[in-house]
Amino acid sequence: MISPSPAHLASEPLIDAAALRARIAELAEDIGPCYAGEVPILVSVLKGSTMFLSDLTRALPLDLEVDFMSISSYAESGGISGVVRIVKDLGSDIGDRHVLIVEDIVDTGLTLNYLRRTLEERRPASLRTVSLLDKAARRIIPVPLEWRGFEIPDVFVVGYGLDFQGRYRNVPDILAVRDLAKLANDPSLLVEGLFSGG
Ligand code: IMP
Ligand code: MG
Repeated sequence: MISPSPAHLASEPLIDAAALRARIAELAEDIGPCYAGEVPILVSVLKGSTMFLSDLTRALPLDLEVDFMSISSYAESGGISGVVRIVKDLGSDIGDRHVLIVEDIVDTGLTLNYLRRTLEERRPASLRTVSLLDKAARRIIPVPLEWRGFEIPDVFVVGYGLDFQGRYRNVPDILAVRDLAKLANDPSLLVEGLFSGG
């Protein structure tokens, strides 16, 4: 639930928990039939996509497996390098399996592009992606995205798995940060009005 946020707060609601729930139910209805009779492996990219994975898997009327991968991107000073490294690899062999990458957000597309190339080399039976959010306007590399929850504008968002410096992942709604430079200066900036427990 989003409570009316005073104008001085540093973020504004973008997608609330009810809208997330409704859209994920729709995605599950679209995705389910594509895997009828199969046991797909859903590959979640840590850590941002875990909330989405958890809700999506429970909405999918399918027998499925989940696996996790962790990657880190090297940001060059002043921007994005496009160089990505696997920090934690999958535990399962995806050869001949139907693989669905579950992402929180596709921004420049560099991460997903790297991930797709890496997983493709392992010869899965199919490789598709669902991303909860799509910042399509920021794309540098065109990359296939079979399903997306919401297209969002070029704003920095937190909540529902998405973080700023590791924080705010547990906010139930997705919030748009009004002033990223201000937040960088004071990473606790959003706390007021979000958490009452301290
Ligand atoms: P890409 O390689 O530029 O597509 O970046 C994808 C990754 O950048 C995501 O998996 C997120 O970790 C991060 N990211 C991009 N935009 C946001 C945002 O608005 N909030 C939080 N993380 C973001
Ligand atoms: Mg991510």
